[in-house]
Amino acid sequence: MGTSAPSRQNLIQMLAAEGTDARRELYQQAYRIKLEQVGKLVYFRGIIEFSNICTKNCYYCGIRRENTTTKRFSMSADEILECAKLAHDYNYGSIVLQAGERNDPEFVDFVETIVRDIKTMSDGGLGITLSLGEQSSETYQRWFESGAHRYLIRIETSNRGLYSSLHPEDHDFDRRLSCIRELRDIGYQVGTGVMVGLPGQTIEDLADDILFFKKIDADMIGMGPYIIHHDTPLAVNASDFDPARQLRLGLNMIAATRIALEDVNIAATTALQALDPKGRELGLQAGANIIMPNITHTRYRSSYQLYDNKPCLDENAGLCRACLSHRITGIGEEIGYNQWGDSPHFFKRNQLDK
Ligand code: 5AD
Ligand code: SF4
Ligand code: FES
Repeated sequence: MGTSAPSRQNLIQMLAAEGTDARRELYQQAYRIKLEQVGKLVYFRGIIEFSNICTKNCYYCGIRRENTTTKRFSMSADEILECAKLAHDYNYGSIVLQAGERNDPEFVDFVETIVRDIKTMSDGGLGITLSLGEQSSETYQRWFESGAHRYLIRIETSNRGLYSSLHPEDHDFDRRLSCIRELRDIGYQVGTGVMVGLPGQTIEDLADDILFFKKIDADMIGMGPYIIHHDTPLAVNASDFDPARQLRLGLNMIAATRIALEDVNIAATTALQALDPKGRELGLQAGANIIMPNITHTRYRSSYQLYDNKPCLDENAGLCRACLSHRITGIGEEIGYNQWGDSPHFFKRNQLDK
C-alpha cells in the first residue's frame, strides 16, 4: 500500500512542479504507485464517437448546439455494430460509446438496443462503457440492464463558480453531481474527471478537483488538458493559450491523481496527444493505465472535434491500433488484450460496502 493520502498542500506542490527534475521525480513516484496498484498492463477501450448532435451548449466545446459550422451526423446501428465488431476482432476488451447529449426517447431506445446488440454480437465478451452525459436515473437504469457496466461523466471542474462561467445558466452543476450519485447507486463503475488548464482555473482548483474525486470515491478518472476550439465562445482567450503549460499541467494532474487515489483506472486521453505527438505515452509514464483507441469510421472523424488539433482524423482503426501498440511497447509496457481491465478500486469499494 502507498503512504498516507497527500494533503491539499502536498497536492498543490505536486501540481506546481515545473523544472525537469521536479517533474521527473513526480512522475516516477506516480509510476511506482501505478505498478504496485494496477500493474503495467495498459487496457484498451475502443471509442466509437457515434453522433455529434448535442442539445447542450458548453462554451468550450466544438460540437455545442450553437456551432453552426459543424456538419451533424449520427451513425446507424449497423455502422456502430461494425465498429464494435472491429474492436472485438482486434481483441480489445472493451468499447466506449460516446456522443453529444440527447435525452429524447428515440435516442434512449436507440442506445438501449445498440448496447444489447453489441453484447449479443460479442457473446457478452465486450465490456461497454457509456459516455452520453446527463440522463434520468430511469434511463441510466435501462442502459445498465441492457449490458453497459461503466459510465463516464466528467464534472469538468469541481469549482462551482468556474463551472458556471463555462456553461450557460441552464447547465446545472448539482444535476451533474446527482447523476454521478445515481450511476453509482445503480451499480455502474463510475468515471469522472475535469479539463485541466481552463481559463480562470487555479492550481488550488485542480488540487480541489483531486480531493473531489476522492470524496465521491470515483472508480475511473479521465482528464485532459483544455484545448481551444476556434468556433466556440471560449476561443476569445486564444492569445493566453500556452500549449507547453497545458501539457505539463495535464501530466502533473495525472501523476498527482495516481498518488492520491492509487487503485483507480486513469486514462491517458487523446487531448494530450493534440499537444504533443508523444502525449499519450507521457500520460502512461506519469501514472495513467488506460488508452482509448479511436475506432470511429474515418468518414465521421472530422465532424467530431471537441477541440482543435485532434489527432488521428485520417488514420483508420487499424492504423491507430498499430500506432498505439508500437508506442506502448516502445515505453516498455504491454497491452491487456481481451480483458475488461476493470478498476480494482470498484471491487474494493464493493467489498467494503457489503
Ligand atoms: N478541450 C478539451 N476537452 C474538451 N471537452 C470538451 N471540449 C473540450 C475542449 N475544448 C471534454 C469535456 C467533455 C469531454 C467529452 O470532452 O471534458 O466532458
Ligand atoms: Fe455537448 Fe458534451 Fe460538448 Fe457539452 S461537452 S457541448 S454536453 S458534447
Ligand atoms: Fe491514431 Fe497514432 S493513435 S494514428
